[in-house]
Amino acid sequence: MEKHFAVIGDPIEHSLSPWMHNAGYKTLEIDAEYQRFRVETNHLAESIKGLCALGFSGWNVTIPHKESIIPYLDHLTPQAKRAQAVNTVKYHQGQLIGHNTDGDGFIRSVEVDLREFEGKKAVLLGAGGACKGIALALAEQGMELTILNRTPEKAEKLVELILKEGGKASSGRFAPGGWLETVDLLVQTTSVGLHREPFPFSLEGISKQALVVDIIFNPMETLFLKEAKKLGCRTQNGLGMLLYQGALAWEFWLGRQAPVEEMGKALKNRLLERMFYKEK
Ligand SMILES: NC(=O)c1ccc[n+]([C@@H]2O[C@H](COP(=O)([O-])OP(=O)(O)OC[C@H]3O[C@@H](n4cnc5c(N)ncnc54)[C@H](OP(=O)(O)O)[C@@H]3O)[C@@H](O)[C@H]2O)c1
Repeated sequence: MEKHFAVIGDPIEHSLSPWMHNAGYKTLEIDAEYQRFRVETNHLAESIKGLCALGFSGWNVTIPHKESIIPYLDHLTPQAKRAQAVNTVKYHQGQLIGHNTDGDGFIRSVEVDLREFEGKKAVLLGAGGACKGIALALAEQGMELTILNRTPEKAEKLVELILKEGGKASSGRFAPGGWLETVDLLVQTTSVGLHREPFPFSLEGISKQALVVDIIFNPMETLFLKEAKKLGCRTQNGLGMLLYQGALAWEFWLGRQAPVEEMGKALKNRLLERMFYKEK
């Protein structure tokens, strides 16, 4: 193999990234391989040295290393600085460059459906790591954000960060309200629904014009998305975000356009395969 890529995290066995990236190399006949490695927190420093020594050109970074990897890197791109988190590392000419494709990946996944961002209203449910990247990217596109989180202090902290970056944002009660009638983009970023449990409140009264996204992709349709669809909204699950953050990392490493369609197919097939075998 000429080039080596990977994803590091803990846990990592559920990562779908190898299927998506390897499908991309195969499509474009690139002599490369993408692997996944479980890296425990206390082994992060040696793992980075090891990946460099073994000739890896880049790797993705997932929970719990997205923030703790920063001190080991030589440079950060503006996207990584903005998110204060890294999901992609490029090793080039002895330098480690940290990048973040989560926020822009989300933007790419909704731009066809949403068309314009500037001046539109987005409501984000949650205020965790994934929400932060999405919120900062949406604010940069000129959307007016409302952040609603079960623990209000976390939403307030995220709002402060967005305001500091020059965006428009406010926080509110983690409950239904007048915002349902005016929202253009509703993004569910909490982990509620991962185990097929219902969302804590109903979306009754939501504008039919709204695009509703749940960033969970397994299950492919959470009860939250099912309700939004029933109420007449357009819906999207988290596969688009996963695909485009991967495609942007691919392009950052290889400097050429990623074959998104084939990568998306590989992702979906692998997920279906996994669900089928689990449910059998
Ligand atoms: N599609 C993708 O590419 C992608 C990428 C990253 C993550 N994700 C998904 O995004 C979700 C969140 O990930 P994360 O990394 O942001 O996690 P995180 O940092 O741990 O944040 C979890 C969020 O969920 C909220 N939450 C958890 N249980 C809740 C409950 N019972 N009721 C209300 N709120 C609850 C938390 O609220 P509190 O602050 O009140 O605890 C917090 O806002 C996960 O499901 C993950 O699979 C998808």
